[in-house]
Amino acid sequence: MAESGVRRGVLITGNWKMNLLRAASRELAASVVRALAARRSVAGGSGFAPPGAGVQVALAPPFTAIDVVRDAIRGSGVLLAAQDVAAAREGAHTGEVSAAMLADAGVELVIVGHSERRHGQGETDAIVLDKVQRVIEAGLLVTLCVGETGAERDAGRAEEVVARQVGAVVSRVDLRRASLQIAYEPVWAIGTGRTATPEDARRMHARIRATVAAAAGGEAAQALIIQYGGSVKPDNAAALLAQEDVDGLLVGGASLQAASFATVVPSW
Ligand code: 13P
Repeated sequence: MAESGVRRGVLITGNWKMNLLRAASRELAASVVRALAARRSVAGGSGFAPPGAGVQVALAPPFTAIDVVRDAIRGSGVLLAAQDVAAAREGAHTGEVSAAMLADAGVELVIVGHSERRHGQGETDAIVLDKVQRVIEAGLLVTLCVGETGAERDAGRAEEVVARQVGAVVSRVDLRRASLQIAYEPVWAIGTGRTATPEDARRMHARIRATVAAAAGGEAAQALIIQYGGSVKPDNAAALLAQEDVDGLLVGGASLQAASFATVVPSW
């Protein structure tokens, strides 16, 4: 988390990916709200509470369940997130969902550039930049995902790849006017049970912050929330969050159960 004196806050996002029909989504969102409320009432009891600014929680259901999750989390303070967005503003793009449509549906935050889209759907840095710009234009928060593959790490290119992915966006976006977070998700750690060590995460997060500082200035870099994602579970969340420069978590599999998700959220 942020070193003392810097108040970045903490953001924990549950990315449900292509899981859950509407009834199950409604139930999970309601259970998460109940579990968070129960934890809040015993704040401090978990043994790890963040210093400084507060903890925010976001849920990213599939598009088809956005409305039921919106209704289930209303009034709870949990943010409604989407997993992706179109690169275009509107028009003849069959199957796409625009940033304005997401805003219209009540979405507050959009995840962009997830590795399952970069590697599964061929999204380039240029497409990711377009998507980030659409989200900013719509006035929504954006979480930019970056991360190297296992082959890139083995080739000693992890930092270079991540710096390129970060630079492609932060050099083209005015961070003073955009609400942007970055999520570092090493591809080899996603859904594999292999987590980056807390030290690996700390080092890469520091590198990301330095890349942002070089492109957008030290103030923007210090204010930036950088989440870690990749096999985050209740038993490794606290050690990851304890690292300087690790300001939150982007959680896949463990976010599909309210109890495990609520457990990775620090008390506040
Ligand atoms: P897992 O937590 O299932 O590894 O997924 C991470 C992720 O991709 C979150 O966006």
